[in-house]
Amino acid sequence: MAHARDLDSTLDLLADPYHFISESAEELGADVFEARILLENTLCMRGAAAARVFYDESRFSRENAAPEPVLATLFGKGGVQTLDGEAHRARKAMLLSLLTPGHVDAMTELAVRHWDIEAERDQPGARPLYEYAQRVLTRAACEWAGLLLSDMEAESHAEDLVRLFDSAARGIRPHVRARRSRKRLEEGLRGLIESERELPGSPQAEQTALRVIATHRQADGSYLEPNVAAVELLNLLRPTIAVSVYVVWMAHAIQSHPEIAERLRHDAGYVPPFVQEVRRYYPFFPAVVARVRKDFQWAGVKFERGQRVLLDLYGTNHDARIWAEPETFNPERFLQKTPDEYEFVPQGGGDMQIGHRCPGENLTIALMQALLPRLLDALPAIGPHADPSIDAQRLPALPTRPIKI
Ligand code: HEM
Repeated sequence: MAHARDLDSTLDLLADPYHFISESAEELGADVFEARILLENTLCMRGAAAARVFYDESRFSRENAAPEPVLATLFGKGGVQTLDGEAHRARKAMLLSLLTPGHVDAMTELAVRHWDIEAERDQPGARPLYEYAQRVLTRAACEWAGLLLSDMEAESHAEDLVRLFDSAARGIRPHVRARRSRKRLEEGLRGLIESERELPGSPQAEQTALRVIATHRQADGSYLEPNVAAVELLNLLRPTIAVSVYVVWMAHAIQSHPEIAERLRHDAGYVPPFVQEVRRYYPFFPAVVARVRKDFQWAGVKFERGQRVLLDLYGTNHDARIWAEPETFNPERFLQKTPDEYEFVPQGGGDMQIGHRCPGENLTIALMQALLPRLLDALPAIGPHADPSIDAQRLPALPTRPIKI
């Protein structure tokens, strides 16, 4: 089996989270290799064939897969990400019941409305787009979920919610702040969930996300632990606000390609392939993690029960065997070919009803499509970037120089 060059690759991975696996794989001439990461021998994989194996539930499990620092910040403990089999499917069904086309429409309408309200409220001038989109999406997501927030609460919740995905993996101090933010948020939501349970049930009660999650019954008839219910509510709020990262990348693409921006203004049919190419081309979620459920062989490598495995999402979206000229931003590619569910994996692969693929993919796409016209209007006269470089050591990556609207 191929092995990474260094005795321990944790620092290499942290120094270049989006390229470490694919560059090592390229160097070693293998789609799967072993590296020592966070004190464990870890199998790293990339490519569509690897994704197909990774999303085979009979071979991999998610229990105890994510490291504690990820659970304490990004995911939360006891959430859907850590479940397997029937327990996972039931929890996932609850979340998917809150992400139907009707919910997606409601959330996108709120996002557009809050974009316009924020435009009125905020001082016109050069505003950092990332923070602007975060405020808009926090207000939209909280209102959609049934959380009534004062302006002050919305500000402080936005800060805490953003830290869960933006500060978790950016050094010790931001990480500690992200842990505190999760504690604060879970505590606040636990209280709301418990109060919701005390309200008299009525078929007329609005089925908000807060209500559905608070009153969800498990297979044995019991409610979710209040803390776990809070984690699941955050599993809807946090990533909705994280769509702000894609809003920034849409702006980056528009500023980098004035001809594409021009076409987007006049050709509605170009919007869907543009959004897909933004999700393929730009770095966001680098990799997903699981553990081997039972021994098996694949690509000449022995996968041993209990071993940790990483699947490189970014590298698969840039794999030259799937994508012609993968380092070129080209929405046309999505007009020519529809990739299968293991080739195009910005939000995971496989079937979202059965496996761990992101249940928020349709909402993400809808939000991006709905906010794109606002973005085209708000960006200053499109010209070449002062500095188009990307900080890909950051997690999540962002433009080196903040984009303003
Ligand atoms: C902002 C853009 C988003 C990106 C890049 C993203 C990416 C991902 C990725 C890579 C996974 C892991 C897949 C796996 O473990 O195999 C995931 C899972 C998940 N995502 Fe998203 N996501 C986004 C938006 C959303 C939205 C809008 C929601 C819901 C409102 C959402 C809810 C979830 C949940 C609940 C899971 C766990 C699913 C499970 O374990 O079964 N995500 N996402």
